Parts: sequence; C-alpha cells; structure tokens
Amino acid sequence: MKFFIDTANLSEIKEAYELGVLDGVTTNPSLMAKEGISGDENVRAHYKAICDIVDDNVSAEVIATDFNGIIKEGKELAKLDDKIVVKVPMIKEGVKAIKYFSSEGIRTNCTLIFGPGQAILAAKAGATYVSPFVGRLDDISYDGVDLIEQIVHIYENYGYATQVLAASIRHTMHLIRCAEIGADVATCPLKVITGLLNHPLTDAGLAQFLADHAKAAKK
Ligand code: G3P
Repeated sequence: MKFFIDTANLSEIKEAYELGVLDGVTTNPSLMAKEGISGDENVRAHYKAICDIVDDNVSAEVIATDFNGIIKEGKELAKLDDKIVVKVPMIKEGVKAIKYFSSEGIRTNCTLIFGPGQAILAAKAGATYVSPFVGRLDDISYDGVDLIEQIVHIYENYGYATQVLAASIRHTMHLIRCAEIGADVATCPLKVITGLLNHPLTDAGLAQFLADHAKAAKK
C-alpha cells in the first residue's frame, strides 16, 4: 500500500518523508488556502517546493471546470515537474479531460468521488488514480470504507489499471480498514501516519527493557 500525505504544509511533508515511508503528496485548493498560498505563481512555486522534497506523486489540482481550461491548466501543472499528477474533479468536462491527459501520457487523479459509478467512469477514461472521500461519506452516515471495497472489487472484475486512492482519511482505523480491503493508496494527515506507531504495550515493553538493562549494568 502506498502512503501519501494529504497536506500542503512543507514541514509536515518533510517529517513524513524523513520517516522513510512516504510515496507521495495530495493537495487541494482548501489545503493550499490553509497554508496561505494564493495566486497562480505562488501556488505553482509551492507545488515545485513540494516536488523538491518527495520522490514522486504530487497531486496538483486544477481550478478550471471547462474542458479547454482544464487542459490548459493541467498541461501547465504537468510541465512544472515530472512528479506532478494532475488532479481533476469528477465532472463531465473532467472525465473528457482525463481521457485527453491519458492519451498524452499525463498522469491524473480524479477527485471528489462519492459513488461507484463515478469510479467506473474515471477508470474508463484512463485515470491513474481515483480518489473516493471516505471521511466525508462517514460524515453523512454512509460507510466510506464500503465504497472503497466496492471500487476495489469492480476494478478487479475488469482489470482496470486505475489505482484506488482512499482520501479524506481521518483516523488510523480508516487506513487499516482500507489496507485490509486492498486500497492501492491512502492519503492522510501526518497524525494518521504517525498514529500507526502507537501501542501502549510497545511503550510499556520498551520501558521495561530499558529499566532491566539499567539494573543489570549496576550489578
Ligand atoms: O484528499 C481529500 C481530502 O483532503 C479531504 O479530506 O478531511 O477535508 O474530508 P477532508
């Protein structure tokens, strides 16, 4: 399973990268705004700064919602760095654009997926990744992980190459359940990645080992 970090915060990206388990980064306009990044030039410079930290897979989202606009913006984003994956919303014009990008060899991440039908369309259009939003479905009393399972199953039926990127992951159990059912990628906040480290028996066990070692050294 690939781990992406879902943030535009450079120090969090560095921290996750230094842990040695990071495979990529996803951002969106809300996450960029949270870091106070605005204006085309600044946004693009920020994507470049993210690309300089990680090895690959930096999702950069288009703002345009019409076909020509998505194509223009997506091509400009893709030119910034080979690590860029153009993030396109699940709308009619977006699906057409994904088909175009796929024929041009530009990788895409189809975002804002909330149903299996949308995931089928994105796969048929040739999306590299499809991003179903787990937490936002949970927020409205649908089981977001069920959607991941459904999409994994459908993609297996037909051998679609599109990878299932579980997004809107809010806690470690989301990530673990997505791993159990075979999601290809999970993108999550830093606290979810580092949260996987924690177990009280690990802490207690380590404290005991260190105490015993210290006791033996005094003898
Ligand atoms: O990757 C999509 C993600 O940023 C949405 O997460 O927590 O805003 O639903 P959230």
